[in-house]
Amino acid sequence: MMGGLDDVVAAQTVLSEVDGAAGRLIIRGHRLDDLAGHTTFAEAAELMLDGFFPDLPSGGDFAAALGRARVAVFAEVAGLDATLIGRSPIEAVRALMARLADGDDLATALRLLAAPAVFTPAVIRAQRGLAPLAPDASLSHAADILRMLKGVAAPEVQAEALDTYLVTVCDHGLNASTFAARVVASTQAGLTSAVLAGLSALKGPLHGCAPGPVIEMLDAIGEASNARTWLEAALARGDRLMGFGHRIYRVRDPRADALKRAIGKLGASAGRLAYSEAVEAAALAILRERKPTRSLQTNVEFYTALLLEALAFPPDSFTCVFAMGRTLGWIAHAQEQIASGRLIRPQSVYVGPAPQQAA
Ligand code: ACO
Repeated sequence: MMGGLDDVVAAQTVLSEVDGAAGRLIIRGHRLDDLAGHTTFAEAAELMLDGFFPDLPSGGDFAAALGRARVAVFAEVAGLDATLIGRSPIEAVRALMARLADGDDLATALRLLAAPAVFTPAVIRAQRGLAPLAPDASLSHAADILRMLKGVAAPEVQAEALDTYLVTVCDHGLNASTFAARVVASTQAGLTSAVLAGLSALKGPLHGCAPGPVIEMLDAIGEASNARTWLEAALARGDRLMGFGHRIYRVRDPRADALKRAIGKLGASAGRLAYSEAVEAAALAILRERKPTRSLQTNVEFYTALLLEALAFPPDSFTCVFAMGRTLGWIAHAQEQIASGRLIRPQSVYVGPAPQQAA
């Protein structure tokens, strides 16, 4: 299909492989299940960025450098004025990130990785009338994010769950936001510009903005016995069911199960998980009936919604949390694209009117 570039191969990458038929995600030579739940975000970042920056710190040094970057970008929170506080979290975070200088070096990359992690809790707190909390460079990235959000140290199990999430979503082939980031990177505009392009593409509900609406759907359905009626009415209105379907996966998205396991370890929301599983089963059954020729399965966003809800992020901030993880993929892809040295410039077929012939 021309409009969606389905099946078009637009890049070679060493970063990740998405096998939509097998339901398999490989990130830099590792199966997702061997990384998610076993690797911190800083370790995943070191893995993803390996070879893309000559001065990349290794071992504990990367986590420390990321901690210092969190402290450095906190200065930009001063730009959070009443106008931005009144915007959606993703628009406020995007505006703050646009204040960062462009560049193609490691320092720029670290600031970009740190920025959504620092700005998102600051925006959420400001919207609640609370003062933003400064980062603590000595904490792990995930633990510091939760502390900046809640104002108290998070239990380790919660920091582990957030790490699992950030690692799970850090890269996923040539998805819409990563392609956008690579297009901008190919013009040599700089990493900040590439990341802002990715962030803007992530904002749409067909890509990274689905988990907030998943919560709205779960809240509106209310109880499992209402699921079929509610979901059928939504489809009859022409709505898409948020958290289901994927351009590449024809089987279950492997990220959904990685996140479901992380929710299980949190324990706190077992009732909500059981209810959500019942809604998921009803949705899959209805999608099978209504779209028998498609294979519409649960995607990453369904369990993202439950995990981030359990960690006390408000639903309208979920896309910002996605960006905390995916910024890593955007930066790595941008560096890979720049190294290829080739401007991305496809062609179009003109189907408009021919010029008028002179009489
Ligand atoms: N609910 C109902 N119908 C759906 C859904 C859904 N969630 N997803 C696809 N379909 C239907 C379409 O209406 C279309 O039907 P038609 O052929 O009768 O017109 C058909 O299935 C298209 O299927 P695909 O080609 O497989 O889907 P496409 O690649 O166009 O869309 C997308 C993929 C955008 C993710 C879609 O499944 C969707 O809108 N899902 C809901 C939003 C969502 O969960 N987004 C997050 C995706 S994951 C991520 O990006 C991180």
